[in-house]
This record gives sequence, structure tokens and C-alpha cells, in this order.
Amino acid sequence: MNNVKISKAIPSDAYGIQSLTIESSKGMYKLCGWSEEEINNHFPPEKAQKAAEGLEKGIANFTDDNILMVAKMTNDNDGKDEEKVVGCCFAEKHEDKNTIEALYVMPEFKGQGLAKELYDKAHGLLDKNKDTYLDVFSLNSRGVGFYKKQGFVETGKKTFDERFKGSDGEMLEITEMVLYN
Ligand SMILES: CC(C)(COP(=O)(O)OP(=O)(O)OC[C@H]1O[C@@H](n2cnc3c(N)ncnc32)[C@H](O)[C@@H]1OP(=O)(O)O)[C@@H](O)C(=O)NCCC(=O)NCCS
Repeated sequence: MNNVKISKAIPSDAYGIQSLTIESSKGMYKLCGWSEEEINNHFPPEKAQKAAEGLEKGIANFTDDNILMVAKMTNDNDGKDEEKVVGCCFAEKHEDKNTIEALYVMPEFKGQGLAKELYDKAHGLLDKNKDTYLDVFSLNSRGVGFYKKQGFVETGKKTFDERFKGSDGEMLEITEMVLYN
């Protein structure tokens, strides 16, 4: 993957990150048992536009505590370089802990080590003397397996969030995991 480079996100990456998030999340929700219709309802186009605008402003105001790494693929299009965001990892430093907020790779890039590379770069910039926490859907076996491979263990805490409610009214269970420093 020598045409894929990892760097810190800049505001103009926001729209690419938003598309990646939607594309990658679709497979994740499917794995958690949601139907195509439920997934499409969860990502209305007007929400995506607003989210991207918010993210663009967010990135512009990032401090050293907000770490957003992006993987960008460069393709030559008639002599003109075109960039596409194909992966990202968002991590944050807090007073008492580190957190991993998101990790996504495009479906066609799964299983090639890109997620690990993104995670390693983001994790490497977190506080070394603090534990790192994250939330993952309990049914997201791929995500849970990935994080276990990186040394995370389940804390035993399970939660639900109204934002992740299917059309049957059932909310997806969230599992908390931790990597002790
Ligand atoms: C979860 C996700 C990021 C993993 O990406 P990936 O491309 O499969 O991971 P990588 O290829 O970088 O794998 C890195 C290592 O973890 C291992 N691994 C990945 N998934 C695993 C699993 N489910 N169980 C065990 N090991 C796993 C790989 O074998 C690899 O091992 P190696 O370093 O010994 O070669 C990807 O599937 C994804 O984007 N999913 C949708 C979004 C999502 O679920 N994000 C996480 C929750 S927010």
C-alpha cells in the first residue's frame, strides 16, 4: 500500500472522513444485526453534510489532546493527484485517561494491517502513563477481536445509548474495553 500515507487530519479532510465513517459503519451495523433500511435511516444525507461541517470546524480547533490520524490514498488521474480518505483513528487525551473514539477503514482495505497502523500512530501520541478506554458494540465481533489483539480487555461495563436504537426499539449494547498502561 505504498500509495497510502498516514498523517494528522487537516480541516479539508472532514468530508472524506465523513464518507469513510458512513461507508465503514454500514458493515459494522450489518454485523450488529441491523437491516439495510435501519442503516439508511441512521445516515440521512442532510445529517452527513452537517456532521462534515461540524467536523471541519472541530479539526480547525483541535489541541494536542485531540488526535485524528487519517490514511489517504493518492491516485494519479490524468497527471493530477487525487486523494481519498481510506481510514482514520480518533483518540483523545483526558485528565484521568486516554480514549479511542473511533477507528474505521474502508471495506476494501480491511484485513491489510491499515487499521493497526492507524491505531498504533494514534495510540503512540497518547499519554503513556494513563489507561486507554473505548466503547464498542458488543455484537461488533470484528472490532472487539481487533481491540483484544491490541491488548484491550473488557471492563465488564455494558451500556445502552438512545442514539443506537433500531426500528424495533431495541438499543445496541455497548461494551467498554480498556488497555492498562
Ligand atoms: C475493526 C477494523 C478497524 C479492523 O480492521 P482490519 O483492517 O481488519 O484490521 P488489521 O488488518 O489492521 O488487523 C490488525 C491485526 O489485528 C488482527 N485482527 C483484526 N481483526 C481481528 C479479529 N476480529 N479477531 C482477532 N484478530 C483480529 C489481524 O489479524 C491483525 O493481526 P496481525 O497484526 O498479527 O497481522 C475494521 O474491520 C473496520 O473498519 N470495521 C468497521 C468499523 C469498526 O468496527 N470499528 C471499530 C469499532 S469503532
